[in-house]
Amino acid sequence: MQLLHLDSSVLGAASASRRLSAEIVARQLALLPDLAVTYRDLAADPPLHLSAAHMAARMGEVIEDATLNEDLVKGNAYLDELLAADIVVIGAPMYNFSIPTPLKAWIDRIAVAGKTFSYTAAGPEGLLKNKKAFIASARGSSYPANGPSAAFDHQESYLTGLLAFLGMTDLTIVRAEGLAIGPEAKDAALARASEDIAALAA
Ligand SMILES: Cc1cc2nc3c(=O)[nH]c(=O)nc-3n(C[C@H](O)[C@H](O)[C@H](O)COP(=O)(O)O)c2cc1C
Repeated sequence: MQLLHLDSSVLGAASASRRLSAEIVARQLALLPDLAVTYRDLAADPPLHLSAAHMAARMGEVIEDATLNEDLVKGNAYLDELLAADIVVIGAPMYNFSIPTPLKAWIDRIAVAGKTFSYTAAGPEGLLKNKKAFIASARGSSYPANGPSAAFDHQESYLTGLLAFLGMTDLTIVRAEGLAIGPEAKDAALARASEDIAALAA
């Protein structure tokens, strides 16, 4: 079985979502020791933003640009890695109420009609069936579902919708939030998230 592990935080060793995504992967490896892990650090090695040239290449146009061609190869590898994965673990901090831009750029490369979803007479259909997904969510404030700040959550809500659109409805979110309140609140939130991870079943 294959596990695809993505990180996207720009905070390096201080990152909460990196710590949690690594713990989720370690837990999955403990449960399924034969897992093969592919890792992508999207902050350290980001894809280019989607451009007109990317779309032209997708339509079969030959692109005479080495940088772009390298990036096209990378985007194809993203797609292959996702299609091959049985489990996907996404380290996803909230930045400005949404996800980091390299993670969005990754999504722009893997959300491809005919590959990961298709349009049918009955509406769109996700093609990524039978995959498990985990989101390691970290955020400075809190966004309780029924509270006034819930409308600002374009991070978990976006990823949940996007993954479901692609067919990945088996999703577990591990969340550490309120991290900016202070060191004690942060330690407590991370400890709670670690407990949630330790309790994950196969
Ligand atoms: C550029 C930037 C933007 C942020 N924007 C928000 C935000 O809109 N809402 C929020 O609750 N926290 C925000 N935060 C706080 C982060 O969500 C928090 O630091 C979290 O730990 C980030 O995850 P990471 O440590 O894995 O990078 C922001 C932090 C950074 C660095």
